[in-house]
Amino acid sequence: MTSPDALFPVVAMQLSDLDAIMEIEPILFTGDPWPRSMYEHEIVRNELSFYRVIHGQAPAQPPVLAYAGVWMLYDTAHVSTIGTHPAWQRRGLSTWLLLHLIEESLRRGAVEMTLEVRKSNLAAQALYHHFGFEKVGRRRRYYRDTGEDALLMTLTALDADAVRQALTDIRQRSIAHLRRQMGVDD
Ligand SMILES: CC(C)(COP(=O)(O)OP(=O)(O)OC[C@H]1O[C@@H](n2cnc3c(N)ncnc32)[C@H](O)[C@@H]1OP(=O)(O)O)[C@@H](O)C(=O)NCCC(=O)NCCS
Repeated sequence: MTSPDALFPVVAMQLSDLDAIMEIEPILFTGDPWPRSMYEHEIVRNELSFYRVIHGQAPAQPPVLAYAGVWMLYDTAHVSTIGTHPAWQRRGLSTWLLLHLIEESLRRGAVEMTLEVRKSNLAAQALYHHFGFEKVGRRRRYYRDTGEDALLMTLTALDADAVRQALTDIRQRSIAHLRRQMGVDD
């Protein structure tokens, strides 16, 4: 049986990924794309962060299908970015990636995960709700391009049995979803 771990390995972001990421970053984050220098800093200098990508697995696929990063702030893991290539959205890749980010954050000692999301970004909020993230606050006029508010979302008690069980369930559903999407039925 081909598992999504084999089909879509989640690996460390490298400087060599940045050409591909810079092509999709302005499409995914229209108003506030990160410059290349920010990713370079995160990969090379920021010892408190980890960045992960899912690569295209065939020549016809884009080199980077999805990518994300986390800042480790003591026992809090903060999702700094997450995005899926426009042509690969709604296939379960961000779910797969976020699952890996949470599992790695747990291994690094995090007890909670936080993030900011635009109030209007209902797609991302739905993704986070699946994992049990809850709205805990708001940063007024946080996004400089539009003056839009950011919602603060948190997933607490990462190491609690109930959360671990929920992650196990999400992993099972995510594997089934990815296999269906990819037409893998061996
Ligand atoms: C938000 C984003 C990361 C989701 O990536 P993705 O790989 O498409 O996500 P998944 O396929 O794992 O979707 C998981 C769930 O999120 C929700 N979701 C994702 N895209 C959605 C959309 N366009 N509309 C509504 N719900 C959506 C759904 O509940 C979905 O589950 P379902 O397909 O079983 O209904 C992607 O749309 C993206 O890159 N957006 C631009 C960048 C961005 O907004 N990043 C988040 C910043 S906080």
